[in-house]
Amino acid sequence: MTKNKIKNKSNKTNNNSNNSVETQLKNKNDINKLNNNNKNNNNLENQHSHEHSHEHSHEHNHQHSNEHSNKFNSNEEDEEREELEHYQLIVSTLLNYSQYSLHWVKDMQDFFHYKLSEEEKKLLPNYNAKMEALARAVLVNSQFLKKIGNEHCNIFSSDNSKGNDNERVVDPTDLDHIKIDYFMMDQLKSTIRQLVREWSEEGKVERDQAFGPIKQQLLETYGHIPFQERSKIRVYSPGAGLGRLCLEIASLGFSSQGIEYSFMMLIVSNFMLNKVEKINEFKIHPYIHQTVNVLRDVDQLRTVMIPDVLSSELLPKNNPGLEFSMSAGDFTKNIEENSFDCICTCFFIDTAPNILEYVDCISKILKPGGTWINFGPLLYHHAKKKDSIELSYEQLRYLICKKQFQFKKEEIRDAEYCSNQKSLLRSVYKCQFFVAINNKPQI
Ligand SMILES: C[S@@+](CC[C@H](N)C(=O)[O-])C[C@H]1O[C@@H](n2cnc3c(N)ncnc32)[C@H](O)[C@@H]1O
Repeated sequence: MTKNKIKNKSNKTNNNSNNSVETQLKNKNDINKLNNNNKNNNNLENQHSHEHSHEHSHEHNHQHSNEHSNKFNSNEEDEEREELEHYQLIVSTLLNYSQYSLHWVKDMQDFFHYKLSEEEKKLLPNYNAKMEALARAVLVNSQFLKKIGNEHCNIFSSDNSKGNDNERVVDPTDLDHIKIDYFMMDQLKSTIRQLVREWSEEGKVERDQAFGPIKQQLLETYGHIPFQERSKIRVYSPGAGLGRLCLEIASLGFSSQGIEYSFMMLIVSNFMLNKVEKINEFKIHPYIHQTVNVLRDVDQLRTVMIPDVLSSELLPKNNPGLEFSMSAGDFTKNIEENSFDCICTCFFIDTAPNILEYVDCISKILKPGGTWINFGPLLYHHAKKKDSIELSYEQLRYLICKKQFQFKKEEIRDAEYCSNQKSLLRSVYKCQFFVAINNKPQI
């Protein structure tokens, strides 16, 4: 396993000293997973998917060999180069959003001007004004996204740098040389919608549906422990998204660690957790890219303010034992056995190509007697690629029992995911909410 070379230096402090959140790359092989994984682009605009696997679009093969050190070195270099390219791609996607989106608006304007007859145009007197409003909204979104992108322009100038690390600084002017990656741009548009779910007042409905029962269960299971002592309970959240659930778990006094393998998500969550200074500091237009199932133009153009809370206000003060961190990586590749008291999976388990592996990892990571709280559907993100095993809940339940879990609670609950509340199409998932105790033998 290769060691971590890149750290987000701006966030190395732990939460208690200054209420910032540690964000770190645990294992650079995880980036390779990002690179190698699918391009299964489930577009949130059609509301059928909660896919958020932000993988790098290049296909790379990463073989490690200790037999031939030259080969090993060159692979290491390849990996470093790929890491750099992947970061540049994300930063450039954030910085080039307006270029891409203004182009998109222009394409629509061109259709109007060149494909419609003069008679048809006269029937749509407000069409141009709407296009102009869309272009203005793009610029508003871009202002926010550029702020995040600019924060990360120097992400490679790590303070654990040695030797030639200065060469790794991303020069924003170089970003012009990188072509717009449409797959990554789609991921960015999904991330904007995820911002509403996790960091706006409008997202409260979804958070109450999904995060609510998880938090409630945590309190049912561990709430008898006095607040000041709760930090000894370690809670792990794989597929942490933009970090809100992890933050809310920490706000209850538990030590909370998220792991997330999308660097787009991590960069944005880092910004929301550590850089935002005021409630409602930013205005975004999250729904402009959804051109279908729109009732009124104002619905498509509407603004959402973020954030609805500041992480510094939610995190308990004077609780020196409490740890709160977000790490980067594939949770199946970062197994520390018997290390957590509780694992919370929210809209996560169906991201697995092989759900048996996820259950096995969860069982290993949990301490004996530990609690697994799950909330989410069984959408199986890899199903379209015909590259996964898709178990029914019935089969999954049998497997979980075979892995020495005992179910304590099982319910089906309705929840939406990154839903546009004003859309003419909204999907409701019948989510499995379960609580299972890991009855594996004591160590
Ligand atoms: C559908 S989103 C759910 C996000 C959040 N839990 C929520 O409820 O809003 C699933 C997340 O899991 C992440 N993910 C998928 N597979 C992962 C893995 N093996 N390790 C870590 N994160 C993963 C994706 O990048 C994505 O952000």
